[in-house]
Amino acid sequence: MTDPSTPPTPSAFGTRHEQVVFCHDEASGLKAIIAIYSTALGPALGGTRFYPYASEADALTDVLNLSQGMAYKNALAGLDLGGGKAVIIGDPHTLKSETLLRAYGRFVQTLNGRYFTACDVGTFSPDMDLIARECDFVTGRTVEHGGAGDSSVLTAFGVYQGMRASAQHLWGDTSLAGKRIGVAGVGKVGRHLVGHLVDEGADVVVTDPYAPAVMALLQTHPGVRSVVDTDALIREPLDVYAPCALGGALDDESVQALTAQVVCGAANNQLAHEGIEKQLQDRGITYAPDYCVNAGGVIQVADELEGFDFDRAKMRATSIYDTTLGVLEHAKAEGISPSLAADRMAEQRMRDVGRLRSVYLP
Ligand SMILES: NC(=O)c1ccc[n+]([C@@H]2O[C@H](COP(=O)([O-])OP(=O)(O)OC[C@H]3O[C@@H](n4cnc5c(N)ncnc54)[C@H](O)[C@@H]3O)[C@@H](O)[C@H]2O)c1
Repeated sequence: MTDPSTPPTPSAFGTRHEQVVFCHDEASGLKAIIAIYSTALGPALGGTRFYPYASEADALTDVLNLSQGMAYKNALAGLDLGGGKAVIIGDPHTLKSETLLRAYGRFVQTLNGRYFTACDVGTFSPDMDLIARECDFVTGRTVEHGGAGDSSVLTAFGVYQGMRASAQHLWGDTSLAGKRIGVAGVGKVGRHLVGHLVDEGADVVVTDPYAPAVMALLQTHPGVRSVVDTDALIREPLDVYAPCALGGALDDESVQALTAQVVCGAANNQLAHEGIEKQLQDRGITYAPDYCVNAGGVIQVADELEGFDFDRAKMRATSIYDTTLGVLEHAKAEGISPSLAADRMAEQRMRDVGRLRSVYLP
């Protein structure tokens, strides 16, 4: 009999994932899980998260959710790529080593191109260079090694395009000049985003608990103001709120406190729980779905598969404007939330384009 006090272990067979692979190399300390949600549109692409999970069950839950999210993101971005993700369990500051990363690379190689990896939380371009010494299916390598480098450049550019589309949808004009925009988190993506907004003449307010990041930003952009924390930021009189830090930025409390009419930011998984999208809708706030507007990074690293060309990747990331506008218009026409509209559009592309594989090509 099952002990009722034991939390349920996530079951890979209880989901719609195609394949879940557990990788173990005891000597280097590697414990990794690779999850492939869908290859309907092509090989699965998604980053490797290196994180000190509290339990193996937490790691499995995370990789299952993240890989599904990548399938939707890649589909909506118009890429011929499926969705996958990997997690390495452990503290990257103490556990990461050349041997561990190369061992991981050998496991990715065993999937023979069904899964391409990239950077995520806890992994960086030089790590991808090491993984690539054992494996042919790696993106996000350093520019010196033929890679796309830091994906936050086009992630920020894509969020900026999503914001212009939201402005067009709501105010009938793409211009963000004079708009009051709050950016929570000025790390890799947030600081590039602030650059685009300042260049366009927006009135930008930021917050970040990491003081050196704020100081560096204010030095580069003296016209930008900072406030003490996210609570203070969302209560500022804002036109647009851009969550660019952690997930769960939009919860019951923050949605009620928000003054902004638009939410458009880079953070993944912004909606803290189901039902938040409805609360945003009820308050008349236009929500540009996170995975729609933050796809610039995956567009950037996906370009590596054709031999990286920054200008081509940037041109592709510009399409986030059209995609976001399409999602917002579809949501309005159907009377549904933008998140649901984005999901439906991604699912339809996986179905329609994926079906073409049934036409046999000799
Ligand atoms: N880097 C990419 O290409 C990319 C692509 C898609 C999505 N994202 C998502 O965008 C977000 C930002 O990514 P990043 O690469 O800039 O990460 P980052 O770690 O460089 O920056 C995050 C910043 O948020 C700050 N922060 C932490 N808690 C905060 C809080 N409560 N309020 C305000 N700021 C806070 C941190 O101090 C840090 O400066 C993440 O959610 C990430 O998953 C990033």
